[in-house]
Amino acid sequence: MTTKAKKLDPEISRRKFVTAAMAGATGIGLVSFATILGGLRPVPFITDAQKPVEIGDVLVYAEGPKAGQPVGPDDLEKDGPYITVYPKGNDVVRSEGQGATINAIMILKYALSDITAPAKPEATADGIIAFSKLCPHLGCSVLAKGPDGNLPCPCHGSKFDGKSGKVLVAPAPRGLPQLPIKLENNQFVVSGKWLETVYGTVEA
Ligand code: FES
Repeated sequence: MTTKAKKLDPEISRRKFVTAAMAGATGIGLVSFATILGGLRPVPFITDAQKPVEIGDVLVYAEGPKAGQPVGPDDLEKDGPYITVYPKGNDVVRSEGQGATINAIMILKYALSDITAPAKPEATADGIIAFSKLCPHLGCSVLAKGPDGNLPCPCHGSKFDGKSGKVLVAPAPRGLPQLPIKLENNQFVVSGKWLETVYGTVEA
């Protein structure tokens, strides 16, 4: 026995379609309005520990038994491995919130004459250079220097020159940003803004 399909009245179908379309449009409008309101929310308060690096901050050990203590020039070995540091301002290490990522810095020691472009020797502390630890491709932390003296990224294979920060192997679109530093009272102090944009930030 065959069942006869019920034929829908074309006028009723049209009305149903128009009603559904209007409901959908209203929903989209409400979502957009809510999105705009969300975008107008006040920026959450940033504590001193969450602030991005500032001029005058002192570079301190990020980890290990000396975590939070300033790094001195004798703590670094010439042509040796980097030390990971965070900026410390107003007695607060800026290693919380977003700063925990964008403020991660590596410092390395070279003879001043070994620092090559695009790195700026004048922005080093007599050959001790500070780079962002974040790969400019997608923000992974760059690994320790290899035997070739270069800095590899573990995520997609980028490689950076340890003395200049420039990209040797893509996909990183640019080199490691350099942070100007100087030596003051045997401590490394931030002496200028990032020379290039750090991954995850808007401007240098
Ligand atoms: S995040 Fe470093 S190569 Fe992709």
